[in-house]
Amino acid sequence: MAEKGWHRTVRSADVQAGDIFPANVGPRFILVARLQNGDAVAFAASCPHQGTDLETATLWDNKIRCSRHQYIYDGCTGLNIFPTERFGPDRLWKTKPGYLPTYATEERAGWIWVYQDPRPPPKGYDPKLEIPPEGAEREAPLEPEEDAGPTEQVKVVRVREGADFELRLPINPLPGNEWRVEVVGDLLEIVDEGLRPTDPPKWGVKIHAHEAGEDAVECRFRAPWDVEPSELRRYVVHVIAGAEAD
Ligand code: FES
Repeated sequence: MAEKGWHRTVRSADVQAGDIFPANVGPRFILVARLQNGDAVAFAASCPHQGTDLETATLWDNKIRCSRHQYIYDGCTGLNIFPTERFGPDRLWKTKPGYLPTYATEERAGWIWVYQDPRPPPKGYDPKLEIPPEGAEREAPLEPEEDAGPTEQVKVVRVREGADFELRLPINPLPGNEWRVEVVGDLLEIVDEGLRPTDPPKWGVKIHAHEAGEDAVECRFRAPWDVEPSELRRYVVHVIAGAEAD
């Protein structure tokens, strides 16, 4: 017989890593999911930032990413990781909330059971940080951009034949963030690329211009949770012959 307050939700075998299912626990409508580490978790059905349905969220690396403004919550504790880590806890009064409500789960007899009341707020969450400091109410809230799909930025670069040059791409050096960079033609060659210790850090791509003419470099940025690139850049490179450049 069920223990008081625990509710049988979804069959364990039906929930694979990355899956999210709706469920009712008593009067509440919640979501049940399985993280990449195999843990079954349960959390609020809508994002506490602006109410987006979290059935459309992405599960990645044991984290939950809301599809609307890309807020990221720890899959086990619900603690907000992004944007808190990016803007800092002292901006939580702007970026709030600091956590996503979660529910205790157990797997028993082939089912995922969920306790009907949310867990207490996660360790590390300080509700005082959500209170605007005095005089701060007039400042506009920090609003991450909506996920509107990538638009390609195109830039033109002129370099001399035989020269090396470097493209610097913005990057937040979180694990898994990466730029994929490719040369379109055969006038250019990538000779080195990697994170440059600039302030802020940049993704540097060192390129050698072999011959005069026109070539292009295509850059695609993808965060670990992105199915498609979220940023596209194209550099049209005019390689000038030595005599022309003089
Ligand atoms: S509604 Fe979820 S991040 Fe804004």
